[in-house]
Amino acid sequence: MSSTDLDNKAKSILIENDQGGYTIPTKGLYPYQWNWDSVFVALGFDTFDQNRAWREIEMLFEGQWRDGMVPHILFRKDDPSYFPGPSVWGTDGGPIPSSGHSQPPVAASVVQTLVEHDRTGTAQERAAALLPKLMDWHRWYLAYRDPKNLGVIAVIHPWESGRDNLPDWDDALRAVEVKDIAPYERKDTSHVDPAMRPHKEDYDRYLSIVAACRNVGWDPARVAETCPFFVADPGVTFIFLRANRDLLKLAERLGRNREAEEIRGWIARMEKGAKTLWHEGLKAHVAFDERSGKLSDGISSASFLAPYAGIADDTTLSALQAHFDRIASKVRYLMPSYDPDHKGYEPLRYWRGPVWAMINYMIAQGFAEAGDTARAERLRADTARLIETGGFAEYFSPETGAGAGGGAFSWTSAIWLSWASPSHAKQAA
Ligand code: GLC
Repeated sequence: MSSTDLDNKAKSILIENDQGGYTIPTKGLYPYQWNWDSVFVALGFDTFDQNRAWREIEMLFEGQWRDGMVPHILFRKDDPSYFPGPSVWGTDGGPIPSSGHSQPPVAASVVQTLVEHDRTGTAQERAAALLPKLMDWHRWYLAYRDPKNLGVIAVIHPWESGRDNLPDWDDALRAVEVKDIAPYERKDTSHVDPAMRPHKEDYDRYLSIVAACRNVGWDPARVAETCPFFVADPGVTFIFLRANRDLLKLAERLGRNREAEEIRGWIARMEKGAKTLWHEGLKAHVAFDERSGKLSDGISSASFLAPYAGIADDTTLSALQAHFDRIASKVRYLMPSYDPDHKGYEPLRYWRGPVWAMINYMIAQGFAEAGDTARAERLRADTARLIETGGFAEYFSPETGAGAGGGAFSWTSAIWLSWASPSHAKQAA
């Protein structure tokens, strides 16, 4: 397919997955509105329908909880083909039935991008309406996912990280006691090959964490205190730090001085805290289990998000460049979700090796901003080749380029349109 054909195909996937203002990740496997999927999807709509791009994010915030949290899934209508659905979560924190935890807070960054790209003349107004909601969400993150003021953001469930099956969660997950789960039937393995999905032992623990939080009524302070899983994640931490920098730009543009001052404090806290995640032996930022006090022992694609978060001092950048080149000598397509030299690496199993397009987009943005345009371009070119080879798949093998997981996937289409497509690259040049 030519790149123009792929552009058209990507648009048609977004349009087909559109449910009237919000977009599902893919038909079958993921039939609801997912948090960070929607936000990346807005970048895709931004290339051909800016009004629709704003709508996507506004509809996500319609599900915001009273305590500020923006859930990872909004169950806008019941779909029995998905498990675990609303009855398993048992939440009651917001206006729309939802899951009970969040997902990586990319929204402020994408809102800032929409404002910069605006052709409608309405962006400032729409951003101004979202600003207090974004502030509340970010305050929620700091209060309940960094209750000890460490300057790092923890996740209470592997699903909250958006990188569900990452080897970094293995030890913390193994420590979760399997209890309070009713007999259940998974639905994911009826949509895609079970060899690519989490094992049953993991799934039992995923549900046990949900049960533990449900047992404390999803009260955020009690969840932070008692949840059996509480791991500081370099992915969410870096995305959050970046989101704060973008939120600051927004607040300054809108003349919201009080908010701007508050956000500057958050940035200082996170910049200092990020050092907690630095693994001196590995020379990279890794996950930190706040319950056991242990750093994880592997490099993931999120380690490469430090420059995206504005952490691009010489030590960090040169260490990442060396890891980048080492990994590039092992696999054909960058950036695998986990280090191919680590024993936990599996090229086709969920988040244990495969490449995700939107992660490449964020890593490349950070590298380009840090002045490393060559590696940023390598990521863009690899993402384009993966999509040309494997289609608009959920994710890709870093070794063969084969597409895997769900097909006709929204965020892959959106990242193609907004960044990876050669026609977009030409326009941007
Ligand atoms: C999987 C991914 C998560 C994503 C969701 C919908 O659970 O791990 O990041 O948001 O699918 O695409």
